[in-house]
Amino acid sequence: MSGGPKDISDVAKRRFDLRGKVVIITGGGKGIGKIYAREFARAGARVVAADIDGEGAEQVAAEIVAEGYEAVGLRADITDAAAVEAMAKLALDRFGAIDVLVNNASLMSVLPRRDWMEIPVEEWDRVMTVNLRGMFLCCHAVAPTMKARKYGKIVNISSSRVWEGTPLRLHYTTSKAGVVGFTRALARELGPHGITVNSVSPGATMSETQVASSSGNYLATRVEGRAIERAQIPEDLVGAVMFLSTPASDFMTGQTMNVDGGKAMH
Ligand SMILES: NC(=O)c1ccc[n+]([C@@H]2O[C@H](COP(=O)([O-])OP(=O)(O)OC[C@H]3O[C@@H](n4cnc5c(N)ncnc54)[C@H](O)[C@@H]3O)[C@@H](O)[C@H]2O)c1
Repeated sequence: MSGGPKDISDVAKRRFDLRGKVVIITGGGKGIGKIYAREFARAGARVVAADIDGEGAEQVAAEIVAEGYEAVGLRADITDAAAVEAMAKLALDRFGAIDVLVNNASLMSVLPRRDWMEIPVEEWDRVMTVNLRGMFLCCHAVAPTMKARKYGKIVNISSSRVWEGTPLRLHYTTSKAGVVGFTRALARELGPHGITVNSVSPGATMSETQVASSSGNYLATRVEGRAIERAQIPEDLVGAVMFLSTPASDFMTGQTMNVDGGKAMH
């Protein structure tokens, strides 16, 4: 008799299965969103990468397709309701459903780190518009089809800055705290429809864009105080976002999972 492991049951297979799931990833054209797009596709999901950087999004989709997986990329400014509706329509037309929305796009790496008194009010407003209105509009665009199917998964990206009170991008930190409140309240609104709404708060992560916008050893100093004392890379976030996108997390909603190597123990 073979001493190999017993084949796992169908229920166990489905619990973490992303094959065939249609996943919209905003900000999927570069940075961490690009890694989510690639890794979801490699797990068998059909990916819609949407970004204000349309070329970046199309490039990410082309690379995924070249690997033999399924994806489409498009330009979408998440602050523009019509563009976000078009994003949802593209997902439905191309793939026939929307199972997962990952609200990852935000204004972050483009923001200078500076004293809060020096933040121009127009920049404050723009950060709130992209990071909060954008997420609201994206949820608005996917909710009808998720409600009709009585199932859906929404994952909003916050930041560990919220738990640490990290200064020098006060508008950004404030907006990411808004993501947590939004996640909690929307979870209650959408729970009766079988839709979960959760959030992930990444620690300072070496995304290509964050590295490019950080001077000196800023990111290295952010490693201090972690239980796992090393630099965080985008791949460190993939498991948590995937977990919140699969049936394994179907009874978990309104929560924020902190993924920062154990610095803030939220
Ligand atoms: N890198 C980090 O250290 C870190 C830490 C905590 C949280 N986060 C969060 O993780 C997510 C990804 O981070 P990142 O490092 O890749 O950041 P990033 O700033 O490089 O990426 C944001 C992405 O959003 C896109 N975007 C910006 N405005 C948009 C708009 N109006 N419409 C559509 N797309 C728009 C950008 O083009 C970019 O592709 C963000 O939500 C960020 O706030 C990052």
